[in-house]
Amino acid sequence: MKNNLELDNILKELPHGGNIYRAAKICKKAPSEIIDLSASTNPLITSREILKKIQKLFREISIFLDKYPDPECTQLKKIIAEKYKISEKAILCGNGSTELIYLSIRALSPDKVLIVEPTFIEYEKVTRISGVKKINRIFDLKKEKILKKLKTALKKEKVQAIFLCNPNNPTGWVIEKKKILEIVSEYPDITFLIDEAFIEFCEKESLLREATFYPNLIVFRSFTKFFGLAGLRLGYLVGNEKLIERLKNYKEPWSVNMFAQTLGVFLLTDKNFIKKSLQFFKKEKQYVETALQKIKVEFFPSVTNFYLLYLPKGLDLTKYLLKSGILVRNCYNFYGLNENYIRVSLKKRKENQKFLRVLKTWLKDLL
Ligand SMILES: Cc1ncc(COP(=O)(O)O)c(C=O)c1O
Repeated sequence: MKNNLELDNILKELPHGGNIYRAAKICKKAPSEIIDLSASTNPLITSREILKKIQKLFREISIFLDKYPDPECTQLKKIIAEKYKISEKAILCGNGSTELIYLSIRALSPDKVLIVEPTFIEYEKVTRISGVKKINRIFDLKKEKILKKLKTALKKEKVQAIFLCNPNNPTGWVIEKKKILEIVSEYPDITFLIDEAFIEFCEKESLLREATFYPNLIVFRSFTKFFGLAGLRLGYLVGNEKLIERLKNYKEPWSVNMFAQTLGVFLLTDKNFIKKSLQFFKKEKQYVETALQKIKVEFFPSVTNFYLLYLPKGLDLTKYLLKSGILVRNCYNFYGLNENYIRVSLKKRKENQKFLRVLKTWLKDLL
């Protein structure tokens, strides 16, 4: 294959999920031909029925293109506040939750940060570029052990902030809210940065409401995953009012465009989309789990729309799949993991089937 050289560099080329543009170049396809299982977004957002509604909304607001978007995201905050029964003053919207994660670290400027690993690699990146003097980590692939390790680590050395992704990317586990709150209460001097990018799959464990009255708790939410708005960029954080006022000083103005604000309002109020998406993922989860068990591929139990797989020769598989136009997230650059860990997301049935078919063929060739 002519592009072997590029395929050999595949890991360096794709440090994050979702880069269909680079993947398409590597396997000489159009980006639209890539089956992207590397980004855990909801494929139903582009279903005909939803697209029709979105196009109508976009047509209506296009006449405002020469106007600035509302810098306060007033309408969106109102809808979020109503949905979760919190104050609008406890919400700050951003251009994806990543903007807000970066902003929070800039504003809090902690000296020492603890990261619960393995997890979203941007936490490490933001701490590295923001003058954090020390990064402590705890690591485990078993959820049952992670809180115990966290408690031990905190007894040993105090930090100013903790990153905890819940549900966690890439393991797919969720830690019960009650257990997290016990630690949040015990350590009022530590700011807990809880990333709930995947919480729509288990809302009952959300700490969003608690974040409005615990002064040391910030919750990040994203429209990228469950709502599938990866390309539009929309997220928000929730914290107590005093903290929000402080964080606002660090925010660039107008980072949330008017299309994102409008779609955020639309999706949060579309109960049908939420219900259908939950049903869809439940069905696909059962289908993919059963298929993986049948071909004896090891996966970590997940409450979300992705799975962490363990496969010997994971790099080889990553390349093999890409040759068939399937992009997965090789987890080589997650702390404590290596290239034999692969994260795959659920897409529509046809795409899931193609992935399973190619995986099966690769496994057969391996024997
Ligand atoms: C846990 C987690 N948080 C946040 C993000 C980024 O979200 P956003 O697109 O809202 O910036 C990701 C994306 O991969 C993620 O996995």
